[in-house]
Amino acid sequence: PFCFADGQIVPTASATLHPTDLGLIRGYGIFDFFRTVDYKPLFLDNYLDRFIASAERTFIPLPYSREELTEVIYELIEKNDLKEGGIRMVLSGGISENHFSPGEGKLFIFAESLIFPSEEKYQNGIKLLTLEYVRPVAEIKTTNYALAVWHSAGWKKQGAEDVLYHQGNYISESSRSNFFLVKNGELITPDSNILLGITRKYVMELAGGAHVRPVTMQEIRDADEAFITSTTKVLLPVTQIDDLKIGSGKPGPVSLGLLEKFRQKVG
Ligand code: PDD
Repeated sequence: PFCFADGQIVPTASATLHPTDLGLIRGYGIFDFFRTVDYKPLFLDNYLDRFIASAERTFIPLPYSREELTEVIYELIEKNDLKEGGIRMVLSGGISENHFSPGEGKLFIFAESLIFPSEEKYQNGIKLLTLEYVRPVAEIKTTNYALAVWHSAGWKKQGAEDVLYHQGNYISESSRSNFFLVKNGELITPDSNILLGITRKYVMELAGGAHVRPVTMQEIRDADEAFITSTTKVLLPVTQIDDLKIGSGKPGPVSLGLLEKFRQKVG
């Protein structure tokens, strides 16, 4: 595979990061991740908007224009023969004189193979565990997933696929996905302490809208259905949260209908 590093397309294995880069020593960096469908980057404009906004908000200089990034992305898709795959753009904090303030950003763009959840999970739904947490500056796509990675061994032991973050009585998102409830045929999704997911946005469009507002833990008990959305999961039904079964305990018609619609329209 080939990646973009230090302004050039090179074999991915030859790309390097300096050991004092802030990404490594302070966990300071941003990224974004999108899919290709039949060699085309899906919703590229949305992902580039978010990536550039993350760079600006973290004060990491992004040394390439939007047009240059787009050109590199298409070149990488061709070089990697990436018919159906993932592209990750990572902007690391760079080398810093005081080992703290952001330096010149160091950009990598590379291809990845996609790992989708098994079809069995779409048919039966998954379990989430609630966890009191909010990602630092949640609306920025930082590379800091340390708590989630650390906890992940524990979820698996409890038969859970992932976590559902909450702040007191308010739900926000899963570790790498956005969260939705369905009540009386309508979608409800949290409005704060979240990353504004591109999949979330598209699913709301497909559904003809959603109630975007604070969502409480109590509402989980009364929900008919629940699901999470992300680039790699698309829309994955949630049938259990902690010890509580959601709705009938099976993926519901609204979730499955939207998943089907997404797959038909997008792939
Ligand atoms: N994760 N919330 C968080 C914290 C995320 O990391 C992601 C994406 C989402 C969903 O956003 P989108 O629909 O734009 O993918 C929500 C990516 C897939 C990752 O961690 O690789």
